[in-house]
Amino acid sequence: MKPKLKTSIPGPRSLALAGQLREYESRNVTYCDESWPVFWERAEGTNIWDADGNRYLDFTSAFGVAGLGHRHPEIVAAMTEQSGLLLHGMGDVHPTALKGKLCARLSSLTFERWNGGKGKVVLSNSGFEAVETALKTARLATGKSGVMAFSNGYHGLGYGSLLGTDLDKFRGPFVDQLAEVTTRVPYGSFDLPEGGKIGAVLVEPIQGRGGKVVPPEGFLKSLRQWCDDNGALLIFDEIYSGFHRSGKWFACEWDEVVPDLICLGKALSSGFPISACVGKEDVMDQWPESPGEALHTSTFLGHPVGCAMALKSLDILARPETIEIVERASMNLKKALHDLHHDGLVEVRGRGLMVGLELEQNAGKLLAELLSEGLIFLADGPAGNVLSFTPPFVISEEEIEFAVGKVSRLLRG
Ligand SMILES: Cc1ncc(COP(=O)(O)O)c(C=O)c1O
Repeated sequence: MKPKLKTSIPGPRSLALAGQLREYESRNVTYCDESWPVFWERAEGTNIWDADGNRYLDFTSAFGVAGLGHRHPEIVAAMTEQSGLLLHGMGDVHPTALKGKLCARLSSLTFERWNGGKGKVVLSNSGFEAVETALKTARLATGKSGVMAFSNGYHGLGYGSLLGTDLDKFRGPFVDQLAEVTTRVPYGSFDLPEGGKIGAVLVEPIQGRGGKVVPPEGFLKSLRQWCDDNGALLIFDEIYSGFHRSGKWFACEWDEVVPDLICLGKALSSGFPISACVGKEDVMDQWPESPGEALHTSTFLGHPVGCAMALKSLDILARPETIEIVERASMNLKKALHDLHHDGLVEVRGRGLMVGLELEQNAGKLLAELLSEGLIFLADGPAGNVLSFTPPFVISEEEIEFAVGKVSRLLRG
């Protein structure tokens, strides 16, 4: 449904709530000014309602999580049912049956589907934790501490994942606390360094926050070859690009390259903080058998509600009609953006429902203008100049045309 606005944006309640946040939340967290943010209260499908009763159209899937649409009724039912039984388990001590079921399902969706044998899994909470699990796995399996990572890569903000994340605004203040083990390579380059101490090659098969960058053909294959030649593990970070976002189950399938480890999160559960690192069996078996104390775990690992929501999400994602919906929406988005030509528009790029409009300038002002028109967008890229189109899969042709029409008008100024 097209957006419907009752008050000016942000409305009076959102402004009051922002005032409270400014008092009690660290000032670094939520950006607040007279045009931003609005406070979300309710959502359904592609629509969000804010605290002032305004309705918006979501072109972000809320950081790529709500691919299946906000508050999908079957996922809400799975969550409610599990909450009524058990709200918290003991992940690595006395787990629930759901944990093993989810690990088996993730194996069947990844390495087994790719004919790579069985996959084994470490679950975690945030995306960055899955990346850190992968880096630890590579360290144990190869005995080498070096990491190859790429320009404008984003892998999260924990100290381990910052070894991979490039964007200087995130690393800068903490760089003196990071181990100097990263070899940085331009994303898409075929000119790769000497093997040396590098045991992990950490890469997004399509860059998300780096600006919806699809690498040149053959790039992922060349990394696979390099890893095989140099005794390193290939880690695909599909936290953003996974689960049909790029038009395939996983973005690496466009290039038919199988990694040693894959990191998953975001859309895995459609709304609960749960993530996973899945690795080839022989690689994962480089972790020692637990002697009663896991080497790597956390309080909420394998959370029963998260597992129940993830299993239901994976059921829905596997339905042929879901794949058809993604294909239709991707085609509609491509068609709508095809004829967009404006001064200041550099390039339209991406795959599936992971598309970016690179602009000459930072998109901050455009985002606020779109919000005041009832459209929720985010910008990516090192200069915040890539307007991202990552809507829920259920976005309709009419909603796409409406949003692209607004973007086009605002770009014209
Ligand atoms: C590719 C990629 N990796 C890792 C992360 C980090 O995930 P989280 O914010 O859940 O820690 C993100 C988040 O945007 C991401 O896009």
